[in-house]
Amino acid sequence: MRELISRLLLNRNSYSANCGANILYHLSDWPQDDCRGVPEQVGLRQGKSPASLSPDNQNNSNHSRKAVSGYHESVLLNEVTHYLAPGDDKLFLDATLGGGGHSEQLLKRGAKVIGLDQDPAALSFAKSRLSSYDDKFGAIQGNFRDFGEILSTIGITGLDGLLLDLGISSRQVDDAERGFSFSKPGPLDMRMDPDAEITAAELINNCEEEELARVFYEYGEERASRRIASAIVERRKDKFFECTTDLANLVESIIPRRGKKHPATRVFQALRIAVNNELRVLEEALAEVPKWLRPGGRLVIISFHSLEDRIVKSYLKRCSRSIIDKPEWPEPKKNPDYCFKLVMQKGVIPSKDEVRDNPRARSARLRVAERLPMQVSNTD
Ligand SMILES: C[S@@+](CC[C@H](N)C(=O)[O-])C[C@H]1O[C@@H](n2cnc3c(N)ncnc32)[C@H](O)[C@@H]1O
Repeated sequence: MRELISRLLLNRNSYSANCGANILYHLSDWPQDDCRGVPEQVGLRQGKSPASLSPDNQNNSNHSRKAVSGYHESVLLNEVTHYLAPGDDKLFLDATLGGGGHSEQLLKRGAKVIGLDQDPAALSFAKSRLSSYDDKFGAIQGNFRDFGEILSTIGITGLDGLLLDLGISSRQVDDAERGFSFSKPGPLDMRMDPDAEITAAELINNCEEEELARVFYEYGEERASRRIASAIVERRKDKFFECTTDLANLVESIIPRRGKKHPATRVFQALRIAVNNELRVLEEALAEVPKWLRPGGRLVIISFHSLEDRIVKSYLKRCSRSIIDKPEWPEPKKNPDYCFKLVMQKGVIPSKDEVRDNPRARSARLRVAERLPMQVSNTD
């Protein structure tokens, strides 16, 4: 079963260049190369979301913050809008379209948006929600690891901003049939793209014990990874795992419940990351970004756990130093990856009000970088 895991973690489901144009609509007359100016400089407090944040002089009230759709409550909505600084005819890629809440704010302010999501259910919800913007909005099903190929296919040459609001939407969690939730019985699936190859049940029922332990430890930072893996392997000798709550109950029998957090939280996070290959996909997408952002264009990323944030933080750090040095080098060198200015050092977290209203926002952290005008020599 090592083969299965390796295939999952290494396989690149290449985007079919033919399908983009069919799925996309109303983009044919978009300007391609109109380079925008640098978005207005902002001087916001770091580490937390400023109470006065107001893309269009709204206050940070519940009303302005919420993109109410019943599908997903957009996280850090005002902050994302503020930092992307949408304006007439700027072009953005919302690479995690979800329920379309962030895109809607950009469209409302006159921007054009290409929305990408690997989940066809999200796409169809967002298309219908944003149908009144159909001259400025296009939606495509695909994995954001392929965003460069997708943009090339539809004739886009540059972006004024790119948004990655990582992870899954509330709708995906709440729909027991998708298998993301440990609190509702459902099939152990966890694929964001329902056509993806491997489900969580296939991993759980086929992986070797060491592989399972590694997945739980590396992707869930689960300290009881080996005990849980061993119990899973023992139990599946009698009966394969099919149901989410079946797995959650087994984990709870090993790690007793303490506090509010369900003991299976980390195992479920780990499985979801493995099934959707989330960390590798993020790294691959980030490596493409400098080629697509116009000078002054902004990369805005919301991550929801430390593994994602670590990748984002170290990528931005690597690309925002003009000079690099190592003790063994005779002298410092120019950094070939230098292409970003960090808009803030620490990242922004949601306000207390937002977390109170939407507890799922509690672990969010937003980071923003701005594309500098130099060429990218980095090919990663
Ligand atoms: C947190 S939700 C986005 C919510 C959205 N910003 C809103 O305001 O409604 C994340 C979305 O990204 C999608 N997604 C996650 N990883 C993806 C990937 N690698 N490629 C494409 N879509 C992805 C998920 O299917 C989900 O719909």
